Amino acid sequence: MSLLAELTHRCPLSCPYCSNPVELERKAQELSTEDWLRVLEEAAELGILQVHFSGGEPMARPDLYTLISHAHKLNLYTNLITSGVLITPQTMKRLDESGLDHVQLSFQDTDGPEADRLSDFPQVQPRKLEAARLITQAGIPLTLNFVLQKANISRMPAMFALARQLDAQRVEMAHTQYYGWALKNRAALLPSRTQLEEASRYVAAEETKGGLAIDYVTPDYYAERPKPCMGGWGQRFLNISPSGHVLPCHAAETIPSLTFDNVRDHSLGHIWYHSRAFTLFRGTDWMPEPCASCARKEIDWGGCRCQALALLGDASQTDPVCSLSPHRHLIDEAIAEAERTDEQVFIYRRMSQNTR
Ligand code: SF4
Ligand code: FES
Repeated sequence: MSLLAELTHRCPLSCPYCSNPVELERKAQELSTEDWLRVLEEAAELGILQVHFSGGEPMARPDLYTLISHAHKLNLYTNLITSGVLITPQTMKRLDESGLDHVQLSFQDTDGPEADRLSDFPQVQPRKLEAARLITQAGIPLTLNFVLQKANISRMPAMFALARQLDAQRVEMAHTQYYGWALKNRAALLPSRTQLEEASRYVAAEETKGGLAIDYVTPDYYAERPKPCMGGWGQRFLNISPSGHVLPCHAAETIPSLTFDNVRDHSLGHIWYHSRAFTLFRGTDWMPEPCASCARKEIDWGGCRCQALALLGDASQTDPVCSLSPHRHLIDEAIAEAERTDEQVFIYRRMSQNTR
C-alpha cells in the first residue's frame, strides 16, 4: 500500500533520535532521477497507493518536484516528510505546482533553544514556523510530527496548542522508536513509566476537545505485547533506500544475514514477490516459539524483526518486548538504565563520521 522513498540521507539537521541507519549513504550512491521516475511507474503498476518522500531531508534533492509531479500524474497520493528548514516561498510554490497532496512537518519541541539543541541546528524553530505558515497558506493539508522523548513530554499541551494555532489537520505524537541512531541514544531519550502515563493523560485530554486528528504512537518498551511492525513484514509496506535497495522496513539493512535487491537490477514487482529479503519473514511459517503457537501471531506478526536483531543479535527471534519472550528482561533493564540517566548527552547523527 505504501512506499517510503528515502531520496537521500543528506540532512541539515543532526537529531539523535533519527531512525536512519547508523551507516549513512553518500550522495554519489543515490539513485538518478530517471531511476526514481521508473520506480514510481513500477510502484503504481504494483498497486501502491501512497508515496512518502522522505530522507534524510528529501528537499535536499533538486529533482524532488519532478518526482512528486510524476507520482501525481500516476495517481499516487504524495506525502512529503520534511524538517521544513528548506521551505521558502519559492520552494513552496514549486511543491504546490507539482501537485503535492500532503506535508508532514517535524518539530523537535515547542521550546526554541531545546529544538536547537535536539536538532543541532541554530534557530531551527522560526524556520519551521514559517514553513508551516507557507504550507497552510498554499492550502496543502498539514500534519505536525513531534518525536517524544524524556526532555519534551511535559510540553505536550503546548505541542497540541501549536498544532491548532498553525491550522494543522493532524498531529502525530510519536514516542521515539529505538533503531538506528535512536538506539545509540536510548538511555538519554527513553522516558520513565511515570512520564508515559503523563503523556497518555495529555492525549486523552486533548481528544475530548475534537477538531484535531491525533495519531499517538506509544513506546513499545512499556507494552506487554509488541507492535505489528510495518503491519507485518512484507505485507503492506516497502522502503527504498537512497541507493536503490528495496527493504521491508527502514531499518532492515541492520540485519546482516539479509541482502537486498536493488531497483537498478530488478523491477519492484519482482523484488516484492520473489526476493529472499521479503519472503523470509512474510507470514507465520518462519516463527519460533512462543509465537508459533500463539493466538496473536497474525495480529502482531511476532513484533519487530529489527528490534529482535538489535537486542538479541537474531532477527528470527520473538521481539523481546513481548512479555512471553524469554528475553523480556533486556527491555526491563533498558528501562531501568534510562530511569537512572538524567543527563542528556547525545551522539548526534552525523554524515561525515558515518558514511559508507
Ligand atoms: Fe506476538 Fe509472538 Fe508475543 Fe504471541 S508470543 S504475543 S505472536 S510476539
Ligand atoms: Fe524493521 Fe520493525 S523496524 S521490522
